[in-house]
Amino acid sequence: MNDEGLLKETLAEPFKIKVVECVRLPPRAERERILKEAFYSPMYINSADVYIDLLTDSGTSAMSDEQWAGMMRGDEAYVRSENFFSLTEAVRDIVGFSHVVPVHQGRAAENILLGVLMKPGDIIPGNSHFDTTRAHIEDKGGKPLDLVGDMLWDFEKEDPFKGNIDLDKLEAALKRYHDKIPFILITVVNNVACSSPVSMENIRKTKKLVDEYDIPIYFDACRFAENCYFIKTREKGYEKKSTIEIAHEMFSYGEGCYMSGKKDALVNIGGFVALKNEETTRRCQERLVLYEGFPTYGGLARRDLEAMAIGLREGMDEGYLSWRTRQVAYLGELFEKEAGVKVSKPTGGSGVFVDIQSIYPHLTADKMPGIALSSDLYLEGGVRVVAIPFPVNTIDVETGEMVSKKFEFARFAIPRRVYTKGHMEYVARVMKQVKENAYKNKGYRVTYWPKVLGHFFAKFEPIE
Ligand code: F0G
Repeated sequence: MNDEGLLKETLAEPFKIKVVECVRLPPRAERERILKEAFYSPMYINSADVYIDLLTDSGTSAMSDEQWAGMMRGDEAYVRSENFFSLTEAVRDIVGFSHVVPVHQGRAAENILLGVLMKPGDIIPGNSHFDTTRAHIEDKGGKPLDLVGDMLWDFEKEDPFKGNIDLDKLEAALKRYHDKIPFILITVVNNVACSSPVSMENIRKTKKLVDEYDIPIYFDACRFAENCYFIKTREKGYEKKSTIEIAHEMFSYGEGCYMSGKKDALVNIGGFVALKNEETTRRCQERLVLYEGFPTYGGLARRDLEAMAIGLREGMDEGYLSWRTRQVAYLGELFEKEAGVKVSKPTGGSGVFVDIQSIYPHLTADKMPGIALSSDLYLEGGVRVVAIPFPVNTIDVETGEMVSKKFEFARFAIPRRVYTKGHMEYVARVMKQVKENAYKNKGYRVTYWPKVLGHFFAKFEPIE
């Protein structure tokens, strides 16, 4: 077996560990008390009481020694720090757009960029919008439209690029609403669609369709490195290209992108907008001064810019990406083969997406099967996940009418470079126990649901 095969098969980590953070598994009786005191919501459990935290892959990465060294090189100047130039150079090298506007995280980029590109009444089609993106589109008086394929609702359907835009839906949307569409947003990888990637072919065909109406493409690039690696490993014709070459081609179809660096740039905080056009950049910078800070730091300490510049490059390393995507796939395989739960296949970028219905077929939606799962996982093994139904606003291809739907899943999001193979095996064992005892769970009822951000702050109690 060659080196690559050996590394893949053993899932040996492409790093060694220099600093550790001790974690504790509270005893079962304590977990019962903690969960009750947390109103059976994963959002009220203290991090210190969680053994393995798979709530999100955002801002939870372990930084490298190089990134920490970079933090020490933060020159902390208000204006034109060296670190801003490091970031600009990394973005230019990898993403290819020449103008870079730093921000403190993804949703800040959404606020800045969408505020420049949109006006009230606009419709913003995309493959599927993340909830902060959706909220920012609505905040600016627009309507988000998700053109992901209907196969999303079929967990059994295996497709290497479930994240794609459904081109029939795109045609229908363009035909009916083109004069209200200022741009198309492609999210790579498509977080909502089980973190599945978008193929280069789909991006190319999307470009061809929108060109007929002179509508530009922008990218939500927070997990673009994983998407590029999936194109390399799943799409014909890209096997021999480097992930950087793939990134260059992908972004060449767009006018710009924004990125939450908290994902593929391997930092705990940070993000940016990157653009082709100077005038659009200037308008973003004007908004930036209002909401984030001066254009050369954008709401971050300069050390954060340096860490992000280094993380962007490390996040494109193919040895790392191979390990990272294998780790997600390994947990997916264990869930299927050992725990007997249904997962979206092939697995994608941020983590493993599980069909909750396959675990709790006896619980109807009003009995909160998602809360049943997150509670059982915590009780069985101190594992934290969230399972929140996702709103999707799609289109009927025949009529062009918009249709609201929900997509429900549990996401086991894996922080980058944080957990080992042993942790994955532990989570799968816990899941097996949860699955075996799931029939005993009688479900949950809501005791509190605030008007704003209900799913974050809701409280529950078990049905006896
Ligand atoms: N776009 C996508 C596709 C995202 O997944 C996120 C965040 C954002 C934008 C916003 O970025 O958090 O830096 O402000 N996703 C996190 C998650 C929260 O858990 O998937 P942010």
